[in-house]
Amino acid sequence: MNSVRIGIIGMGNIGKYHADYLLNGKVSRCQLTAVADALAPLDPWAAKGLRTFKDGEELIRSGAVDAVIIATPHYQHTTLGIGALEAGLHVMVEKPISVHKADAERLIAAHTQRPRQVFAAMFQLRTEPRYVKIKKLISSGELGQIVRLSWIITDWYRTEAYYASGGWRATWKGEGGGALLNQCPHNLDILQWLCGMPAKVRGFCQLGRYHNIEVEDNVTAYWEWASGATGVFITSTGEAPGTNRLELCGTRGKLVLEHNRLTFTRNETDMIEFSRAAKTGFARPDVWNVEIPFDNAPAQHATLTQNFVDAILDGAPLVAPGAEGMNSVELANAMLFSSLTGQTIELPLDGAAYEKTLQQLIAESRFEKKVVEVQAEDFTKSFVR
Ligand SMILES: NC(=O)c1ccc[n+]([C@@H]2O[C@H](COP(=O)([O-])OP(=O)(O)OC[C@H]3O[C@@H](n4cnc5c(N)ncnc54)[C@H](O)[C@@H]3O)[C@@H](O)[C@H]2O)c1
Repeated sequence: MNSVRIGIIGMGNIGKYHADYLLNGKVSRCQLTAVADALAPLDPWAAKGLRTFKDGEELIRSGAVDAVIIATPHYQHTTLGIGALEAGLHVMVEKPISVHKADAERLIAAHTQRPRQVFAAMFQLRTEPRYVKIKKLISSGELGQIVRLSWIITDWYRTEAYYASGGWRATWKGEGGGALLNQCPHNLDILQWLCGMPAKVRGFCQLGRYHNIEVEDNVTAYWEWASGATGVFITSTGEAPGTNRLELCGTRGKLVLEHNRLTFTRNETDMIEFSRAAKTGFARPDVWNVEIPFDNAPAQHATLTQNFVDAILDGAPLVAPGAEGMNSVELANAMLFSSLTGQTIELPLDGAAYEKTLQQLIAESRFEKKVVEVQAEDFTKSFVR
C-alpha cells in the first residue's frame, strides 16, 4: 500500500473539518474516499465523488476504506472503534477515546489483539509548540522536580444555544459528562503527558450550575502525585471572560503559560538545596526571568492525521497512541466519581464501579433535552490553545 483510503464517520462539526483539509490535500499519501453520517446531509459529499453511508458500521464493512476517523458523539467512539478494528481497519478516534474507563479498556483490548493495525487518538495539542517546549523543559531537568501545578482553564465559555445544539450534548446518556468529557480531554491529556498520572484525585463538580444541563459545567479538583507533588485543576464552561493559565512549579523554578506567553522564572539554585544550605531565614534563591519563545501557530489536526498515515505506511511512531487516551478518560471519570461520592479517589480508578454509577445516573435521569436549531458559525473558534 502506498496510499491510505480514509473514511470519516460522523460528519458534524469536526468531521466536516477533517474532510475539508483531507480534500484540500493537506495530508499526503492518503485519500478521503467515504463518509458516513446518521443525520447530516450526505449529498454534498457524494457530489464530491465520495461514497456515502447512513451508518458508520456500513462504511466499516464497505471495503471502501483502509482507515477511519471516528468523529461521532463519544459513546460511539467505543462501539465504532471496536467494529472498525475487528474489521481490520486502522483507527483514529476523536477525543475522548471513550466516555468511561471500562469502555476505554474494551476499545484498547480490541487493538491489543490486533497490534499490526494502527490505533491513534486525536490529541492535536501534543503538537502545539508551547506544550512541546514545556515538555522539553521538564524532561531536560531544567524545571527540576515538579512540586506543584495548577491549570485554571475557565475560558471554555459555552452558551445555552451550544448545549441545545445537539441532542447528545450534556446528558449522561448522550455524552456521559460535560466540561470534563467534552472540552477538557485535551487539557487532561496534556497534563498527564507532561507530569504523568496523579495517585489520587478529589473533585468538586457542579452539575448544571450555569446552564440548563444535567452534567458538570464547573469543576475544581485537587490532584496529588506519588512524589508528593500537588495540583489544582479548575474548569468551567459558564465563566466569562475566563482564564487560561497553566503554572508549573519545579525545584528549579516556575513556568507560567498565559496570554500566549511562556515565562520561566528560573532559580539559580535548586530551592530544596538552597533551603538546606542557607544560613539565614529569609534568604531565597536568586532568579533569572526568561521569556521562552515559541511558534504561535495553532495545532493542526492535519499534522496528527499525517502522523496516522505515516504510521500506517511506514510504521512511524504515533504522537498520540490510542491507548494513551485512557489517561484523560480516567482523570475525567475520577473527578466526577469523587464529586458524586464525596470521596478522594485513589488511582487507578475502579472502572466497573464508575460505569455502574454512570448507568445509575442515566437510569435516574429525568432531564428533558430541548434541541434547537442554532445559527451557523465558525466552529474553529472552539479550538483550545
Ligand atoms: N479534536 C478536536 O479538536 C475536536 C473538536 C470538536 C469535537 N471533537 C470531538 O469530535 C466528536 C464529535 O463532535 P462534533 O462537535 O463534531 O459533534 P456533532 O454533533 O457536530 O457531530 C457528530 C455527528 O455524528 C453523527 N453520528 C452519530 N452516530 C453516528 C453513527 N453511528 N454513524 C454515523 N454518524 C453518526 C451525527 O449525526 C452527527 O452529525 C466528539 O467526540 C467531540 O469531543 C474533537
